[in-house]
Amino acid sequence: MNNHFLDNETWRYFWHPVCTIDELNQSDCGRGKLLRAELLGQELVIAKLDNGVVALANRCPHRSAKLHLGWNCGNAIQCAYHGWKYGHDGTCTEIPALPNGPIPPNAKTKAFDCEVRYDLVWVRLDNTINTEIPAHLAFDDPSFTCTMGTPYTWKTHSARRVENYTDLAHFPFVHPETLGNPDFVTFLIPDIDLQRHGRMRFKYEPPEGGRNGMDAAGNLAPLIHTDYTIQLPFGVTLDQPLANGTRTIMWMWATPIDNRHCRTFWFCCSNTKAPFDPAVPIATQMAILEEDIGPVESQEPEQIPHPRDEIAIAADKVSLTYRRLLFELCKAKAAGQEAVTAFLASERTNI
Ligand code: FES
Ligand SMILES: [Fe+2]
Repeated sequence: MNNHFLDNETWRYFWHPVCTIDELNQSDCGRGKLLRAELLGQELVIAKLDNGVVALANRCPHRSAKLHLGWNCGNAIQCAYHGWKYGHDGTCTEIPALPNGPIPPNAKTKAFDCEVRYDLVWVRLDNTINTEIPAHLAFDDPSFTCTMGTPYTWKTHSARRVENYTDLAHFPFVHPETLGNPDFVTFLIPDIDLQRHGRMRFKYEPPEGGRNGMDAAGNLAPLIHTDYTIQLPFGVTLDQPLANGTRTIMWMWATPIDNRHCRTFWFCCSNTKAPFDPAVPIATQMAILEEDIGPVESQEPEQIPHPRDEIAIAADKVSLTYRRLLFELCKAKAAGQEAVTAFLASERTNI
């Protein structure tokens, strides 16, 4: 465990989206400049090779040039400096200046687990624990229309981003004219249901007139309730039934770029049958995010500190529970891979 409350090495065992499939397609057009991404301080080059999307460490082991400056040759990434080629598993397959070989056995850049799911490219830096790409309640459900928002990077730790996304007390102050109502500053503290696979779930039932939600058309309307699911470590799903009988599902994952920055990938989904312009709810959501960014980026430190360094009250139950689960996960990681597997599989007592 390092000096911080949470051990950031723990997140390496989990899948995180690093770019959208659109970003990958736009970058990879044969002119050099492949897609560069960063996950937990590890720089990556992402490319769609003949047999699938790959995520390699963005460094050529020859003379340390960045591989994203190179080219996609179909079955390999070619370094822009001296033309060495690297296949899908990161092994050097060709050295132009040494046509008859042999290729040095250590001519290899690290290849990480990489999968495309929900139109996102997911990467896992350490596969010694069997973790899964998190569920997406609406993406594969044909009754829902899902629109991906533009990913955004904030100067905050992923865990702070999740806390902000699930914060129940900030609406009247941060969103007084959109989601919140300044006349309603207290709320019913929810019961929290702790489930297996690192999920915590709770239902927020606002006082009548106390909260708005967003419908498919991007209009703000009184919220009945929100069913929150936090997927450890950094995912949140909001399931919001609306008075008109439809449901809005918001899905997000805050990818840790490093210990002080995260990039949020997100979807806005609705099961309405009425035609709507998906750009409008996305724009509404972006405007709401603008209201959050100031307070969140002002939090110092960016990482969640030791409990003695901040003050918690009963109304902070959601973030306290989330922090406790993250801390337990980090403790399990310190105990070894089996302890993490057991932690994720365990049934816990509800709070
Ligand atoms: S630095 Fe990449 S081929 Fe020389
Ligand atoms: Fe907010």
